[in-house]
Amino acid sequence: MKFLTLGALLIGAVTAVSTGRVPHGAQIIPANDKSSLRNIGAHGQKYPDRRTVTIRPSKNDTDDISDDFLWGIKHANHGGRLLLKKGKTYVIGKKLDLSFLNNVEVQLEGEIKFTDDIKYWQANNFYYSFQKSITFWVWGGKDIKIFGHGTLNGNGQAWYNAFAGREILDSSNTFYRPILFLTDNATRVSVEGITQLNSPCWTNFFVRTNDVSFDNVFINAFSTNASALPKNTDGFDSLNVNGLSVTNTRVDIGDDCFSPKPNTSNIFVQNLWCNNTHGVSMGSIGQYSGVQDIIEHAYIENVTLLNGQNGARLKAWAGQNVGYGRINNITYRNIHIENTDKPLVLDQCYFNINATECAAHPSAVNITNIVFDNIYGTSSGKNGKEVVDLTCSPNAVCSNIHLSKINLTSPAGSPPVIICDGIQGDIGVNCTSST
Ligand SMILES: *[C@@H]1O[C@H](CO)[C@@H](O)[C@H](O)[C@H]1NC(C)=O
Ligand SMILES: *[C@@H]1O[C@H](CO)[C@@H](O)[C@H](O)[C@H]1NC(C)=O
Ligand SMILES: *[C@@H]1O[C@H](CO)[C@@H](O)[C@H](O)[C@H]1NC(C)=O
Ligand SMILES: *[C@@H]1O[C@H](CO)[C@@H](O)[C@H](O)[C@H]1NC(C)=O
Ligand SMILES: *[C@@H]1O[C@H](CO)[C@@H](O)[C@H](O)[C@H]1NC(C)=O
Ligand SMILES: *[C@@H]1O[C@H](CO)[C@@H](O)[C@H](O)[C@H]1NC(C)=O
Ligand SMILES: *[C@@H]1O[C@H](CO)[C@@H](O)[C@H](O)[C@H]1NC(C)=O
Ligand SMILES: *[C@@H]1O[C@H](CO)[C@@H](O)[C@H](O)[C@H]1NC(C)=O
Ligand SMILES: *[C@@H]1O[C@H](CO)[C@@H](O)[C@H](O)[C@H]1NC(C)=O
Ligand SMILES: *[C@@H]1O[C@H](CO)[C@@H](O)[C@H](O)[C@H]1NC(C)=O
Ligand SMILES: *[C@@H]1O[C@H](CO)[C@@H](O)[C@H](O)[C@H]1NC(C)=O
Repeated sequence: MKFLTLGALLIGAVTAVSTGRVPHGAQIIPANDKSSLRNIGAHGQKYPDRRTVTIRPSKNDTDDISDDFLWGIKHANHGGRLLLKKGKTYVIGKKLDLSFLNNVEVQLEGEIKFTDDIKYWQANNFYYSFQKSITFWVWGGKDIKIFGHGTLNGNGQAWYNAFAGREILDSSNTFYRPILFLTDNATRVSVEGITQLNSPCWTNFFVRTNDVSFDNVFINAFSTNASALPKNTDGFDSLNVNGLSVTNTRVDIGDDCFSPKPNTSNIFVQNLWCNNTHGVSMGSIGQYSGVQDIIEHAYIENVTLLNGQNGARLKAWAGQNVGYGRINNITYRNIHIENTDKPLVLDQCYFNINATECAAHPSAVNITNIVFDNIYGTSSGKNGKEVVDLTCSPNAVCSNIHLSKINLTSPAGSPPVIICDGIQGDIGVNCTSST
């Protein structure tokens, strides 16, 4: 029996790979070998069968299979699939450059888990100057699909413990933490069905990427140490991206749920659920002096936001030495918000720029053609009766902002207060100035 399995394995391997050594425990099964594909859980998936590569799983949490993973994805590239089996863990302990992908699938049924060797990762990573980001690996190329019921595990606990007490926005901070999933220079990336667990820092960051979609994904970050909570574990961030779709997804983390950053256009969000987050934000943008940032053409529909700091938000920098750009053509529709400090926010005097300063140095990020339609639920009451806060820079472009069917209440009392400062034209609801 043992001999037969080994024999079949070797034949499979030998028929498919013409050159190079097959790593111990790896296998390549042709697309037409249905029974072998069925045996390993690769046949009868949502997508047609492909040449399928498997690699050996890890024996324990330090058994690094990153070389096997790299071999596997290279052999799955150009039309094949890498299968990571159900019930198995694949530990990655070395940084991986996956920038060469072209028409590849990863069927993740088991778990990919990164080592928590902080010393190693802080010395070995891919670095992005935008907000001093680092990552374990970079995915690039085209037609990349990740699907399955498995987990991408950032193994963040050691990072949460070590980062406790520090601030990412502190300009002297040099304690960088890896992003769990990062694409760069990629086209057509889709991720479906998986769980993304305990990222050390942001969960997803898309850079120079066109057409990325997430469907039916669960993002969660939690700590078992009450004095070291996960920080900056944002669900979705982007930079220079055209085409970003997130559907049927749940996010339970302590930072932004969905927050596209500079130069993101054609955004589609539908059926998103966010718990304990800082909300669904456009921006912030316009931070860096002399740099133009744009976010436009976003349709955000059917989002549930529970227990958060913010609900739906737009934010652009004001003050001295900041950048310019626009947030344009954004629709938030059918948004359910509960127990949230600031349910609906437009802040064109970001970050904490006071009214005098904001009038003297208004934002150069135009905010135009914005719809908030059918936004309902309750605030936490933390900001009293205030449920909506729209603050535009005086003398900046902040126009065609339209609110309809706003039914937000506050446990602190009624009537709820809608603040609007510096907005040009009628916004569709009665509102008052903060002063
Ligand atoms: C983990 O597995 C590797 C590879 O089999 C082995 O060399 C190592 O000793 C194991 N480590 C522990 C802590 O069991
Ligand atoms: C982007 O990827 C393409 C191949 O898909 C490659 O030709 C090009 O050099 C890459 N660009 C950069 C800036 O890495
Ligand atoms: C919890 O985090 C704190 C702060 O970093 C740390 O001092 C402590 O050792 C951690 N506790 C455990 C059990 O790891
Ligand atoms: C809205 O999204 C929730 C998930 O958050 C989903 O259960 C519900 O079916 C969606 N509603 C519609 C009308 O699609
Ligand atoms: C949402 O988060 C709260 C903590 O704020 C937690 O008690 C609750 O179980 C979460 N809801 C779900 C459905 O996971
Ligand atoms: C956004 O795109 C503009 C070109 O339109 C570019 O000059 C700018 O550097 C980009 N912003 C960032 C932060 O990359
Ligand atoms: C606004 O964005 C939507 C996508 O959400 C797009 O279909 C529409 O064409 C855009 N409108 C304009 C005027 O560009
Ligand atoms: C902002 O609006 C001003 C005035 O309409 C316009 O001149 C400028 O081009 C706009 N900026 C951007 C980046 O769209
Ligand atoms: C507003 O902020 C500016 C710059 O930080 C500061 O100089 C000024 O005192 C502040 N004004 C008020 C009224 O707080
Ligand atoms: C507003 O929401 C409350 C529940 O939060 C509901 O009782 C009320 O009927 C809603 N009003 C409108 C006009 O939809
Ligand atoms: C605004 O308030 C005025 C006076 O109370 C009222 O007549 C008007 O209908 C209100 N408009 C809206 C859009 O609620």
